[in-house]
Amino acid sequence: MGQDKLTVGLVYGGKSGEHEVSLQTAFAVMNAFNFNKYDVLPFYITKQGEWRVGSKLHAPFADLTHLRLEKEAGDTSIAIQQLFSKLATGQAAVDVVFPLLHGTYGEDGTIQGLFEMADLPYVGAGVLSSAAGMDKVVMKKLFADAGLEQCKYCYFTGPQWERNSHTLIQGIEDKLGYPCFVKPANLGSSVGISKASNRDELLKAVDYAFRYDLKVIVEEFVQAREIEVGVLGNDDAEASVPGEVVSSSDSEYYDYQAKYLDGKSQMVIPATIDTELAERIRELAVKAFKATEGSGLCRADFFLTADQSILINEVNTMPGFTPFSMYPLLWRETGVSYESLLDRLIDLAQQRYDARQNLDFNNGVN
Ligand SMILES: Nc1ncnc2c1ncn2[C@@H]1O[C@H](COP(=O)(O)OP(=O)(O)O)[C@@H](O)[C@H]1O
Ligand SMILES: [Mg+2]
Repeated sequence: MGQDKLTVGLVYGGKSGEHEVSLQTAFAVMNAFNFNKYDVLPFYITKQGEWRVGSKLHAPFADLTHLRLEKEAGDTSIAIQQLFSKLATGQAAVDVVFPLLHGTYGEDGTIQGLFEMADLPYVGAGVLSSAAGMDKVVMKKLFADAGLEQCKYCYFTGPQWERNSHTLIQGIEDKLGYPCFVKPANLGSSVGISKASNRDELLKAVDYAFRYDLKVIVEEFVQAREIEVGVLGNDDAEASVPGEVVSSSDSEYYDYQAKYLDGKSQMVIPATIDTELAERIRELAVKAFKATEGSGLCRADFFLTADQSILINEVNTMPGFTPFSMYPLLWRETGVSYESLLDRLIDLAQQRYDARQNLDFNNGVN
């Protein structure tokens, strides 16, 4: 029995603004693991980006603060080069990695690249899918290619804006009109996003978004309900029941404040929409997952307009994953508990890894 136990490398924390959320998620995941099946090797990334590797755990930490690995750490503050060599040579022996990081350096493909180089199975989206899911412009192009309906948009880089702002503004006003939504192309959690109702606000919103990214996207404003669907699987991915996010009335839109801090937005699970519409949205969610080459999981977010148009907004390759987050709750409603969700995701990570083992990476040489 003992040798059948898997060691799961739990990676959490991170340089992003969602550091604390990641700690909460890691604590919940650790407590939901069946320790008869899994041992856990904790990898904590500090806010400064330093890695700490703990000792192998046979039971969850009693307290969330232990996750910072201040006392329990087997190996504190190792450089990424050292970490990589430990991973690659099997000294930090893990059977599968479970990244619980959000945003830049977490779900944008960079850490997935590290796992690929170290030849480790890991939960969730691969490098390409993670990067595509992070870049709102690339994501929209893939959605368009798959024939998914979405809102109208424009995008530009910093230098393009500096050289051509007059033409770009004209384009935005002709194509999108006001109000419009201005976003950094590559961030999540509503960071850097604002709504602009006239030219003056547009200029401010664009400058603001450029503080966070070198590429900015502007979208037409969509008056709609926000419907979210969980997708789980690899080639055979399935969709959960849809849920709805109902924003707090005093919030301009579903922003970071409402989402994470005030607890004012409300989740309605399942969403109160008719069965046929729910079915259509579930199909579109799987289609969006496939369009972005998803694996393991994603949460697909839609706008549902008054005339029943279903527009894809985005996919999140590492959706909020505490037991109180939309994604696990959608699956609970669909009949998959938090604990079995973890089993499924680890299994899917191994399947994806195994499927790639017989590929020839030597261009046919030896
Ligand atoms: N084009 C739009 N029209 C209307 N509301 C929008 C639009 N884009 C975004 N929003 C609102 O802003 C929120 C955050 O935008 P989103 O693109 O999902 O960014 P993030 O990646 O930060 O979640 C959405 O959940 C929605 O409430
Ligand atoms: Mg979103």
